[in-house]
Amino acid sequence: MITIHGTGCCLMDFLYPKTDFSVPAFTAKLSRQAGDGGLGIGKLVFAEDFERFVNAPYESALREIAGGAPSYNLGGPAVVSLVHAAQVLGDRAAVSFYGSRGADKTGDLVEEALSRAGFVPRGQAGPADYILKRCPGLTPRTDVLSDPNYHDGHGERTFINLIGAAGRFSRADLDSTGDFFDASVITFGGTALTPLIHDGITELLRRAKKRGALTMVNLVYDYRSELAAPGKKWKLGARDDAYGFIDLLVADRDEALKTSGCPSEGEAAGWFLDKGCGAAVITSGTRPLHFAAGKGIFSPLSPGILPVSKGIDRELAAHPERRGDTTGCGDNFAGGLIAGLVEQLARTVPGKLDLREACIPGVVAGGYACFTLGGVFYEKHPGEKRELLAPFIEEYKKELR
Ligand SMILES: Nc1ncnc2c1ncn2[C@@H]1O[C@H](COP(=O)(O)OP(=O)(O)OP(=O)(O)O)[C@@H](O)[C@H]1O
Ligand SMILES: [Mg+2]
Repeated sequence: MITIHGTGCCLMDFLYPKTDFSVPAFTAKLSRQAGDGGLGIGKLVFAEDFERFVNAPYESALREIAGGAPSYNLGGPAVVSLVHAAQVLGDRAAVSFYGSRGADKTGDLVEEALSRAGFVPRGQAGPADYILKRCPGLTPRTDVLSDPNYHDGHGERTFINLIGAAGRFSRADLDSTGDFFDASVITFGGTALTPLIHDGITELLRRAKKRGALTMVNLVYDYRSELAAPGKKWKLGARDDAYGFIDLLVADRDEALKTSGCPSEGEAAGWFLDKGCGAAVITSGTRPLHFAAGKGIFSPLSPGILPVSKGIDRELAAHPERRGDTTGCGDNFAGGLIAGLVEQLARTVPGKLDLREACIPGVVAGGYACFTLGGVFYEKHPGEKRELLAPFIEEYKKELR
C-alpha cells in the first residue's frame, strides 16, 4: 500500500461577504505606514500584527468590522491537497495529515471539516487520518473581509491571517508522532505559514529522503519573508538550501519568481532544477503552467507548458450557477499531481515517472476547484469526486492531442 504523509498549513477560511470598508470602525483599522499591522485593502496582514496595531484581542477586533454571516471552509495548501489526493485515490493509498490546532471553536470546525472530508483522528480505522497536535494559541485561520460596494460596485477584499497555534508546531511534534517519516510520499504544503517547519525544512526533507520517501513541496505566498524584507528574494530553508532534497516543487507564478529571484516561470523552473530539485511545476491561474524535470524520480523532460482545461471553462460558462470561487485552485492542483504521481508509482519504477502525465489530473483538479466555495469539496459518497473529474480528464486529454 502506498502511504502519503503530509504536513504544513491547515486552517479555516472565513469569508465575510458584507463588510463595509467606509464605516469609522473599519477605516480606523487601516494601515497608515507599511508594516504597521493595519489592514490594507486588497492585501493581507497577520492577525498577530493587527492585534498589536488595534491594541485589542483579535477576535473582538474582528467582530467590530466583519460584516455578514461568514461562510467557511477548510483551507491551507497541505491539508487541501491531501484531502483531494485521498478522495480520488480511495483505498489505493493511505493518507495522513500532521498538523496543529488551538483549544477553540475554530479547531472543532477544522476537525468537523476533516471528518466530512473522510479523515478520521489517528487511532480510528479509515483510509485517511490526521493528527492535530493541540498547541498554545488560537487555531490558524484566514479571515477574508469583502466589501461588494467598494470601487463603485466592483468590490474589494482584505485578508487577515492568524498563524496562532501553527507558530508553535515544530519538528519535535512531527518526531513525537513516531511515524511521520515512514511513508512512500512525504509532502510539505504552505509551510511559510508554519514557521518552525518552514525554517527547518531542509533537515526534514533530508530525513525524508534518507528514509527513501519521494518528497514534494508546494509553496504558499511567504508573507513573513515579504514583510521582513519587502521585494527581496525568499528562501527555502534557513540557508536557502532545501532544493537538493526536493523531488518535486510546486508553486504558483508569484511564489516561483519570488523564491527563485528569476523574472519568468521558465527561468524559475530552470533555476530550481539547477539548485537540485528533481522537477518543478509552476502554475499561473488561467495561463499555461510551466514544468521541467531533471534528475531523480522523473524521466528528464525539457521545459514545457500545459494549458488549463477548456472543458472546465466551458462548463462554467454554460452553468454560471455552478461557479464557486478560485480559492484552492493551486492546492487542488497539487493534490491532483500527488494523485497522478501515486497512480504512476503503482506501475512505474521511480526514475521513470512522467511529470507531464502527472500534471493532467492536477490541471483538472485545479480547474474543478472553481466549482466549490473554498478549496475542499465534500463527497456524498466515497469515489464521488473521482467520478465527477473523470469526464473532464478524458476531455482534457483530447484537448492536448
Ligand atoms: N479559472 C480557471 N479555470 C480553469 N482552471 C483554472 C482556473 N484557475 C486555476 N485553474 C487551474 O488551477 C491551477 C492552479 O491555479 P493557480 O495558479 O491560480 O494557483 P494558486 O495561485 O496557487 O491558487 P490558490 O492559492 O488560490 O490555491 C492552474 O494551473 C489551472 O490548471
Ligand atoms: Mg497556491
